[in-house]
Amino acid sequence: MDRRAPFAPLHDQRPEDLFGALPTPCYILDEGQLRKNGECLKALADRTGCRVLLAQKAFSNYDCYPILAPYLSGTEASGLFEARLGKEELPQGEVHVFCGAYRASEFAELLQYADHIVFNSPAQLARFGPRAKAAGKSLGLRINPECSTQEGHAIYDPCAPGSRLGTTRAQWDRQMTEPLVALLDGLHFHTLCEQDADDLETTLQAVAERFGDVLPRMRWLNFGGGHHITRPGYDLARLERCIRRAQEAWGVTVYLEPGEAWALNAGFLAARVLDLVENAGVQNAILDASAACHMPDVIEMPYQPPVYAAQTAEQAGQATEPSHRFRLGGPTCLAGDVIGDYVFPASLREGDLVLFGDLAIYSTCKNNTFNGMPLPDLWLRRADGSLCRLTAFGYDDFKGRLGSRA
Ligand SMILES: Cc1ncc(COP(=O)(O)O)c(C=O)c1O
Repeated sequence: MDRRAPFAPLHDQRPEDLFGALPTPCYILDEGQLRKNGECLKALADRTGCRVLLAQKAFSNYDCYPILAPYLSGTEASGLFEARLGKEELPQGEVHVFCGAYRASEFAELLQYADHIVFNSPAQLARFGPRAKAAGKSLGLRINPECSTQEGHAIYDPCAPGSRLGTTRAQWDRQMTEPLVALLDGLHFHTLCEQDADDLETTLQAVAERFGDVLPRMRWLNFGGGHHITRPGYDLARLERCIRRAQEAWGVTVYLEPGEAWALNAGFLAARVLDLVENAGVQNAILDASAACHMPDVIEMPYQPPVYAAQTAEQAGQATEPSHRFRLGGPTCLAGDVIGDYVFPASLREGDLVLFGDLAIYSTCKNNTFNGMPLPDLWLRRADGSLCRLTAFGYDDFKGRLGSRA
C-alpha cells in the first residue's frame, strides 16, 4: 500500500491489479482526482467571486475538458494553438491568452478565438492593441512586480534581474502613454511556481506598491499561475484574503490561471523494467519509459517523481538494503536519461511494473520522440474505475513530424 497523495487515487489497490493489462509505457489520467481538484477550485471561486482558468500549458488533454468544464471559468493559452484548442474544446468558457510576443501573421486568427489578450510589453500593446480593442477584446498588460519569492529555480522566476517577462514600473513610466493606458482593461502578473499563498501575499504587496495607483482604472487583475491550491495543506484562507484585498482595494474582478492545480496527482506513468545492469555497485533498471522523452521536467526542472511503494534514495537514507536500491533510467542513448535513485521494498526484476505518480502535468503536453521513442498512449481511468484508451500512437506520429512523406 502507498497512501501518499500521488497514489491516493488508487484507493489501496495494487498497480498491477489496476493497470497490469495495459501496454507500457502509458499515461493514465484519473477522472476522480481531476474532479476532486475541480471541486476545490470551484468552491474557491464560489466563496470569493474570483474566476479560475485552466492554464493549458500544464495540462491540455482535451478529452478531459468535459470533466473539468463544470468547475472552471475558461482556459488560458500561451499562443495561437492553445487558444484555438481552448475555443474548440471548451467553447462555453472564456479564452484568455498571454504570449511573450505575438506575430503579425497570426493575430487576425487569434482574434477569432481569444476573449482576453494580454500583452507583455507596451510596444506590443501599441502594435496590436487598437486592432484587438476594435474587435471587442478585453486587453491586459503583464506587469513585472520585481518580487522574487522562489529560490534555486531561476528558470522559473520571471522576476529574475533582466527578465524579459512583464513590464516593470520603470518601463511603464517610460513607455505607457495615456492613450496606451486607456486601451487597458486589466493587468496580469505571473511570478510563482508550485508556491503557497504566503508568497502570493508578498507578491501582491509588491504589486500594490508599484502599480497601486493605476489599478483602480482596471476592471480585472489576473494573478497568473503557480498557485499549488490543490496540494494538501495549501493555505486557502490566505489566498482568499489576497483575492478579497484586490477586490476591495481596486474594485477588480480577480482571475487565477493555475495549470498544475487542476491536474495535480491526477495521472500516472506506467512503465516496465526491460533490463537490469549492475556497474560499480550501481544497479541500473532500464525501463521502457524515458525521462528525456516522457517526463522531460525530470531533467529540465529538475525533480524526481514519486514511484509507487518506493522512496527516493535521499528519503530512504543510507541504512537500506543495497539490493533494493535501483537507479531508474530510460532506454535512450542519453547517458543522463536517468529518472533517479530509488529504494524499493524488494528487489526489482525484469518485467516488473513501475508506477510513477503525479504525471498528468507538464508531461503529456511536453513529451517527444527523441531516439524514435514511441509516445506513450493516454488512458483515462473513469470515476467508476473502468479504463478507456484515448490514443493509439505509433510510427506515423514519429515520422509525421520529421518530413513530408506519409
Ligand atoms: C503566464 C502563466 N500562466 C499560468 C501558468 C501556469 O502555472 P502553473 O501550472 O504552475 O499553475 C504559467 C506557467 O508557467 C504561466 O507562465
